[in-house]
Amino acid sequence: MLILPSFRFFAMTFLLAAAAHAQSSILAEANSGEQVYKAMCAACHETGVALAPKLGDRAAWTPLIAEGQHVLTGHAWVGVRAMPPRGGSAKLPLADFARAVAFMARTSGANWKDPDSRLLLEIVKEADKRLTKSIKEQQAMQRELHSIAKAAK
Ligand code: HEC
Repeated sequence: MLILPSFRFFAMTFLLAAAAHAQSSILAEANSGEQVYKAMCAACHETGVALAPKLGDRAAWTPLIAEGQHVLTGHAWVGVRAMPPRGGSAKLPLADFARAVAFMARTSGANWKDPDSRLLLEIVKEADKRLTKSIKEQQAMQRELHSIAKAAK
């Protein structure tokens, strides 16, 4: 009679540990850009879904690389047209995302290093600038909608 609950306890502990391991192996700081790319970005960037620049496609990456590492990474992080914010992975830390971008750029000739904390701060500032701009654009649209609604009353 005592075996069943303790088995359950161990089974649950095992499942929790497995879940924690799966999550930490996806999100851990130690993930290389290549690992993040394969897990989170390859689905679109391997085949070029919706005009995603393909891995290793120099013609597509050269103008992107020319934008500079903090600018390109910051803009991609908040999303660009069909490129979803964070690459569509809601829990992906910026540092992991930024390493994936650096890896992708390196496969097309850039000499970008994995960002250190100084570069990460530049990326944060650029992403914040982009986000603030799009929030302001949306607020202007909202004001426009409100005035249309008011005029229609
Ligand atoms: C659901 C598909 C999808 C996934 C997943 C995805 N991307 Fe993209 N990505 C796109 C598309 C589409 C574009 C092209 C956007 C455009 O220029 O219209 C793009 C563009 C980019 C760009 C160039 C941005 C620019 O300023 O033009 C970078 C950098 C990038 N992705 C990085 C990543 C990284 C890193 C990941 C994984 C963490 C990722 N993407 C995951 C679809 C995706």
